[in-house]
Amino acid sequence: MTTTDDIKAQVKNLNFYYGDVHALKNINLSIERRKVTALIGPSGCGKTTFLRCFNRMHDLYPNNKYEGEIILFPDNINIISPAIDPIEIRMQISMVFQKPNPFPKSIYENVAYGLRVRGINKRQILDEKVEKSLRGAALWDEVKDRLHNLAFDLSGGQQQRLCIARALATDPRILLFDEPTSALDPTATSKIEELIIELKTEVTIIIVTHNMQQAARVSDYTAFMYLGEIIEFGKTDKIFTAPSNKLTEEYITGRFG
Ligand SMILES: Nc1ncnc2c1ncn2[C@@H]1O[C@H](COP(=O)(O)OP(=O)(O)O)[C@@H](O)[C@H]1O
Ligand SMILES: [Mg+2]
Repeated sequence: MTTTDDIKAQVKNLNFYYGDVHALKNINLSIERRKVTALIGPSGCGKTTFLRCFNRMHDLYPNNKYEGEIILFPDNINIISPAIDPIEIRMQISMVFQKPNPFPKSIYENVAYGLRVRGINKRQILDEKVEKSLRGAALWDEVKDRLHNLAFDLSGGQQQRLCIARALATDPRILLFDEPTSALDPTATSKIEELIIELKTEVTIIIVTHNMQQAARVSDYTAFMYLGEIIEFGKTDKIFTAPSNKLTEEYITGRFG
């Protein structure tokens, strides 16, 4: 039974516009704490747009407009309120992108980056946090002897785990993943999937994926989106075995998208 203490974020009547393009239409959804919620749906349905609302990425462009609320708990603040600083939100709600995007810095400095931005420069604290984050991202053993090498020396899968470590370093409240394995080979993909399942013991996760097997493997809840709306939302098992909506069923059985 889900209680209000289990809710990490509540999306209420969310609409989003790119200028005249009404990309998200009246979205209502609860994101459960320390669970994985997957967003699925055909290309262009609004998955990335929705994900980016959670850390105010859309504020980087003029003419973008939010309506409604995304309430973050237990703080009870509206993430998309103009009164809330987007930079602070991005420190607390981190995003991992489709393509690994490490900074042109060492492995160590990539992970330490967000801490330094926060004014933390003490060697001992940084060392501890960097190790903890790299361990959390299942990368420590592979890089512990070359922390000061450039991040670009790592393989694609390692770079993606480094980006996850970088996100973990600032103790995020929610981790957002936008198709995090679509640029990776199957082995690197499995590692990231295992990692996501482990990470949810500590952090709430929302993942966009066009890979339905991936959604079924890693998520607890799934939202099926179509043309900017949430068509169906529920426990992942239920969505994939007994969807209530005809469109959901057509999509998960591969009849479109
Ligand atoms: N910067 C933008 N300006 C205008 N329209 C956009 C922009 N980015 C995305 N869109 C439109 O918003 C809709 C949702 O896109 P997106 O969220 O990227 O979908 P998905 O991630 O599900 O493939 C699409 O119709 C897309 O064309
Ligand atoms: Mg997308």
